[in-house]
Formats: sequence, structure tokens, C-alpha cells
Amino acid sequence: MRPHVTVNCAMTADGKLAGRRRKQVTISSPEDLARVKELRKEVDAILVGIGTVLSDDPHLTVKGSTLKKNPIRVVLDSRGRTPDDARVLDAQARTIIATVEDCDKVWRNAEILRIGKDRVDLDLLLTKLHEIGVRTLLVEGGGEVLWSFFKGGLVDHYSVFVGSRIIGGRTAPTPVDGEGFDDHEALKLKLIEWVHLGDGVLLEYEVCNDGG
Ligand SMILES: NC(=O)c1ccc[n+]([C@@H]2O[C@H](COP(=O)([O-])OP(=O)(O)OC[C@H]3O[C@@H](n4cnc5c(N)ncnc54)[C@H](OP(=O)(O)O)[C@@H]3O)[C@@H](O)[C@H]2O)c1
Repeated sequence: MRPHVTVNCAMTADGKLAGRRRKQVTISSPEDLARVKELRKEVDAILVGIGTVLSDDPHLTVKGSTLKKNPIRVVLDSRGRTPDDARVLDAQARTIIATVEDCDKVWRNAEILRIGKDRVDLDLLLTKLHEIGVRTLLVEGGGEVLWSFFKGGLVDHYSVFVGSRIIGGRTAPTPVDGEGFDDHEALKLKLIEWVHLGDGVLLEYEVCNDGG
């Protein structure tokens, strides 16, 4: 058993998650930020990769929420690179760092799950999260992590806000990076809703993991 997985991200109109220096840029409209706040309130856990922690240093909390109410924060970090002063390690929420069997790094304020050989084993991680009561998981990025989730058939719902700006740059991350599918293997989505949110558009998709 695994949690229901929603991927949420914001991209520019040219399909980038951030600029060429891979630092956070403003893409979401205020209306989209309010939507994401509500979305975070509804889920049991929020997950990002170490690339996002190192680039953006996010809190991954709901502003104004309490320790008990904030979702669990999960970071995928095979090599133990999460800095000791990272904001995801603050006292505002429970934090799990998922790493691999050989990584012996420990962090104050974080529980550690050592699962996988080279990289965190996502199937096992989702099973463990389900065992501790996580029924809904929000995966917020970045591109490498989203690739692993899509590749593994582990995404149920995909929400992407398209902000009205162009940033360009061949090294800028996109919602799904990684090695990519072969042409004939492209994952099918079912568009279920589109909403005008300020100066951008929110697209909501169901993921057809069975190829349908
Ligand atoms: N616009 C948005 O909505 C949004 C949201 C989030 C992030 N971003 C942007 O995305 C960029 C960061 O994305 P990123 O692709 O560089 O990094 P990322 O996806 O956040 O993290 C990738 C890293 O996670 C680790 N990892 C561990 N197990 C993994 C697994 N099973 N599958 C995949 N990765 C695993 C790997 O590093 P180790 O091997 O060292 O563990 C991998 O390199 C930043 O520029 C950030 O600003 C944008």
C-alpha cells in the first residue's frame, strides 16, 4: 500500500521550474500561492529532493500553522547533503530524511530512513510512509525527483501552474528532467481541469499509469 501522490509545481510559459542558475524565481501568482497553501494543509506529507533543499532552502510548512498541524516534511537525500541549518530541519514540523543504507549521517530534529543502495528506493519509501499513517503525499520537486516518481508509475495527480513569463536557459530545470522516456513510452495524462489563476493558468491532470 502507498499514499495517494499528487505532484504540484509551477513552471514558466517556456516550461522551466527555475532560472539557469537553478535558484528559485517567482512563477506563481498570488492566487496560485494561496491555492498551494490550501493544498499543503490538506496533505499528510510534503516531499522534495536534496537539489531543491540546496537551491531554495524551503520551509515546506503552512505559514501560520502549528507543529502538530503541519504536514510531515520528507527529503530525498542519498548522500546526506542536507545542511544542518537547512530550514526543513527547523522545529515547525516533523521531518524525515530518506537516505541510503550506506549513509551514516545523522541530523538533529530529523528522523532518518535508510532505504535503497545508490538512491532512495521510492517504492519502499512510500510503503514506509503509508505504514506511519501518510495517506496523502504532495511531491513538490524538483525535476529529478519528479522524473523518478513519473518513471516509477507513482503519481496519481499532476497539477502544474503555468506562469506568464519566459526565463529560458538550457540548464534551467523543467518539471520532469532525468533521462526521459523513449518517444513511444511518453506517459499519458488526462486533462481534468484548467483554471485561470491571476496572470496564469492551473492545469490539473490525472495520470494514466496503466497506459489508458
Ligand atoms: N517551480 C517549482 O515549482 C519548483 C519546485 C521545486 C523545485 N524547483 C526547482 O528545481 C530545482 C531542483 O531540482 P533538481 O532536479 O536539481 O533536484 P531535486 O529533484 O530536488 O533533487 C534531486 C536529487 O534528489 C536525490 N535523490 C535521492 N533519491 C532519489 C530518487 N529516487 N530519485 C531522484 N532523486 C533522488 C538525488 O541526489 P543524491 O543522489 O545526492 O541523493 C537527486 O540528484 C531547483 O532549481 C528548484 O528551484 C522548482
